[in-house]
Amino acid sequence: MTLTIKRPDDWHLHLRDGEMLAGVLPETARDFGRAIVMPNLVPPVVTSADAAAYRARIMAALPEGADFQPLMTLYLTEATNAGDVAAAHASGLVTAVKLYPAGATTNSDSGVRDFDNVQGVLEKMAEIGLPLCVHGEVTDPSVDIFDREAVFIDRVLDPLRRRIPDLKVVMEHITTADGVGYVLSQDNVGATITTHHLIINRNDLLVGGIHPHYYCLPIAKREEHRRALVEAATGGDTRFFLGTDSAPHTDPNKESACGCAGVFSATNTMACLAHVFEEANALERLEGFASLHGPAFYGLEPSAAMLTLTRHADPVTYPAKIETGAGPVTVFDPGFPLHWTTS
Ligand code: NCD
Ligand code: ZN
Repeated sequence: MTLTIKRPDDWHLHLRDGEMLAGVLPETARDFGRAIVMPNLVPPVVTSADAAAYRARIMAALPEGADFQPLMTLYLTEATNAGDVAAAHASGLVTAVKLYPAGATTNSDSGVRDFDNVQGVLEKMAEIGLPLCVHGEVTDPSVDIFDREAVFIDRVLDPLRRRIPDLKVVMEHITTADGVGYVLSQDNVGATITTHHLIINRNDLLVGGIHPHYYCLPIAKREEHRRALVEAATGGDTRFFLGTDSAPHTDPNKESACGCAGVFSATNTMACLAHVFEEANALERLEGFASLHGPAFYGLEPSAAMLTLTRHADPVTYPAKIETGAGPVTVFDPGFPLHWTTS
């Protein structure tokens, strides 16, 4: 059995830099035409000059003949200049701005602490139609890690939406039924959903031993939340689209007493998604989720190229890890046999 869809895009991806970039970029470029590239390098991609230089490094690392376009983002800080952002958007260099609450996740120390200090930039973005991608978790140490998304919606996102209702917002990597519900209740709000949050719940992370390769932020939640995400992703609503949040860390950095957050899924994401959509009897909606809804939200055309998925009767194997110049990186293990390949 085969399924041919427009070439997918990844609306939330970490490519890193240097040897890691060189190692992981071919994994994404194989199946994806475009990706929103996260700016949380060390130091972060803050200015249009930073984004132009990073884009050039990505283009230089692309394999010969690859059909892939990086869509660049700027990391919002309290010192971000609205004019620089507007110019980066006008020139076509930048597709979105990323908001990390300070300290919320990997390399987010330069993120926003006081939202009053970014009001001017956000108003400018609303005016020019530049979307804000939001890491939606509060960082208040008194809030339980499993509640941080729901509390963020009430304390930060909803007030921000009320102040600037015309700002287009992407809730990144939603992990809860609360996130799904909020998107459905709003105008101008979309959400990305990762491959792994459609597949694992918090038991997979914590039962029978701790599984560091399932540790990511936002952390996987209860099974009822995973089910709500599957329903949203496979239900056909155009406000939900794929953002893998494929976030490589080397195995020593994951398998450690203080392991890094991030799941690397670029290598087998389409095979995993085909499995999830097949189980939900929604294979005909995979193209919408992976290839159509994202471009529509961002005001872009879908890809002109196509990708064919083939279902094999026998399970197919994907590498358990990829070797990069920075070290080995474990590939997401969905916990079930995969039957799909792409070409
Ligand atoms: C991401 C990373 O490693 O950069 N980690 C993760 O767990 N998703 C950062 C992020 O998107 O939160
Ligand atoms: Zn991410």
